Amino acid sequence: METVNQLLDSIKDVGRDAVRGGYSRAVYSTPELDLRQWFIEQAEQRGLAVETDRNGIIWAWWGKPQDGALVTGSHLDSVPGGGAFDGPLGVASALAAVDILKARGVQPPRPLAITVFPEEEGSRFGVACLGSRLLTGAIGVDKALNLRDAGGDTFADVARANDLDPRHIGPDPEALARIGDFVELHVEQGKGLGNGGPAVAVGSSILGHGRWKLSVHGQGNHAGTTLMADRSDPMVAAAQIILAVRGAAAKQPDARATVGRLTPVPGGTNVIASRVDLWLDARHPDDAVTAQLIEAIYRAATEAAAGEGCTVTLTEESYSDTVHFDPSLSQRISGLLPGAPVLATGAGHDAGVLAGYVPSAMVFVRNPSGISHSPEEYVADEDAATGAVALADVLEGLL
Ligand code: GLV
Ligand code: MN
Ligand code: MN
Ligand code: MN
Repeated sequence: METVNQLLDSIKDVGRDAVRGGYSRAVYSTPELDLRQWFIEQAEQRGLAVETDRNGIIWAWWGKPQDGALVTGSHLDSVPGGGAFDGPLGVASALAAVDILKARGVQPPRPLAITVFPEEEGSRFGVACLGSRLLTGAIGVDKALNLRDAGGDTFADVARANDLDPRHIGPDPEALARIGDFVELHVEQGKGLGNGGPAVAVGSSILGHGRWKLSVHGQGNHAGTTLMADRSDPMVAAAQIILAVRGAAAKQPDARATVGRLTPVPGGTNVIASRVDLWLDARHPDDAVTAQLIEAIYRAATEAAAGEGCTVTLTEESYSDTVHFDPSLSQRISGLLPGAPVLATGAGHDAGVLAGYVPSAMVFVRNPSGISHSPEEYVADEDAATGAVALADVLEGLL
């Protein structure tokens, strides 16, 4: 039996990023594979039966797999230079909760499974929650198999290299039917739980969110010989587009819009780029407002590009509608966690994808600074311990 803090401590050196700080644990990279193996060993040590399904989701069963099980879990992949808790806290808390339930002498009346979802962050293939989207059919199989990572490898190639058969990747109604109720514990990623109050909260909803690629096309040229007046420089247009993104989002209360990644092509100090790709992440609780926001950004981008003699193309890479977690499951969880506030979140989660198909809910653990997707993401040991007990209480109550 290990506490959640001991479990997290045992993986604290896996996937550290010496350049960015924090952790870089892209799906199916060596560190993420090491964590998957760590999870399998931890689950087996607890007598759980482990299987990896055709979409690469790991299931660890307490009791015989059957339809309608209670399922909890999260992910082990990270954003580049991410924190220690986004994902692993939910997985480690699930393992610790099994220990707590066993110590309490609980005999599950229905099976309990812990799941680990691949590519929750979309850091490698660009689509977040790829594992749960494949399981549920929320993403088309062809689209998924043809996603490419930065090195040009397709998801199909990488899946094959990791013992998955691309012909069997995709909707898995049998696996989905095994989920009677899904609960994901996760580090809170905003400032929803301040110091002094309760350390855990119950999730209510996830903002609608999506990713778009904006490509700005200009004229590649020589940095020394091309007069300033003769340029069609997509980098200059991109700079204006980034400001326009912020301006458009600032006009919509509750909107968030971010350009967190930008690639100039070909990318040389003495080269005027021929193209710049920017990735836009935009979120708002009202899906219609998000659509208007994207339209406004596209109009502003087209105008900014034209002013520099460039053109713009916009491609939607993924979109997830605003999700409201199952009210009756969430209410039961609130009843099991007296005093826990109810919080909406702006972060996406596999529980949000699953919520479209099976009753799903979330439990959040305090992150006092609200910093996440950063090495500074933080959960105090005592709050992590409180979270694991809260998850055990919730699981025991729902079993
Ligand atoms: C994933 O954590 C996301 O919300 O982008
Ligand atoms: Mn996460
Ligand atoms: Mn995340
Ligand atoms: Mn997430």
